Amino acid sequence: MAEAALEPPDPAPRPPKYYLVKQHLLELIATLPAGALVPTERTLTSELGTSRTTVRQALGELVGEGRLIRRHGSGTYVAEPKLGWPLQMTSFTEQAGAIGHEVATELIDATEYAAGEEVARRLDLAPGAAVHRIERLRLVDGTPMAVETSELSAARFPGLLGHLTRVGSLYRVLADEFGVPVASAEQTIETAPASPREASLLQCDNGAPMLRLTRHSFDHAGAPIEWVQSWYRGDRYRLVARLTT
Ligand code: GLP
Repeated sequence: MAEAALEPPDPAPRPPKYYLVKQHLLELIATLPAGALVPTERTLTSELGTSRTTVRQALGELVGEGRLIRRHGSGTYVAEPKLGWPLQMTSFTEQAGAIGHEVATELIDATEYAAGEEVARRLDLAPGAAVHRIERLRLVDGTPMAVETSELSAARFPGLLGHLTRVGSLYRVLADEFGVPVASAEQTIETAPASPREASLLQCDNGAPMLRLTRHSFDHAGAPIEWVQSWYRGDRYRLVARLTT
């Protein structure tokens, strides 16, 4: 069989203009402290001799990546470094405390409803069994960081909402009030753009990069406790996993 002729590799494509502007801005950001104001779109457009659209695209990517923060009507600023968030079997409250931050939690919505097929299967319940659905906004040092929707059996955890309103940490309530500490969990992590609802709750732009997490947690006997779907701000979190042999 005849050998296919070897094609010379394509020459490297020329980087798009916005990318060059972005590299320039990254160099500038590296010299500035968090909170410093960066030049306006108009100034950058004239200084770099490029179009406003190009500058806007570069700034937009840097905002999405959490390098810059846009304050409407005020300007664009160098962002604080992201939170390094270890991937561990801990609660939100415990995790933030362990890395020296203050947590606040706001209840967005709480209902009790009849489980559909999927949630019933996840919680090992019969379809139609009563389930708590609790949606919470989690803030770290006053900044909205995540929206979490937890579903748990209502029969197993009666009066859960009352305890949660008083205590704040779901894992503490489960352990202290119900004697059911979370022992293990399976977690998934994917990326997704912020929907208008999450964007407004988390005070970021529609379509901003988000981390979509799910956690399916179990007790010591291996029975499911909680099914959680979370949106974490992609511009504020860096998830850290410790890998050992
Ligand atoms: C993390 C997990 C959630 C869990 C929560 C409990 O955020 N991703 O699945 O529900 O911790 O946190 P807390 O005990 O602070 O309510």
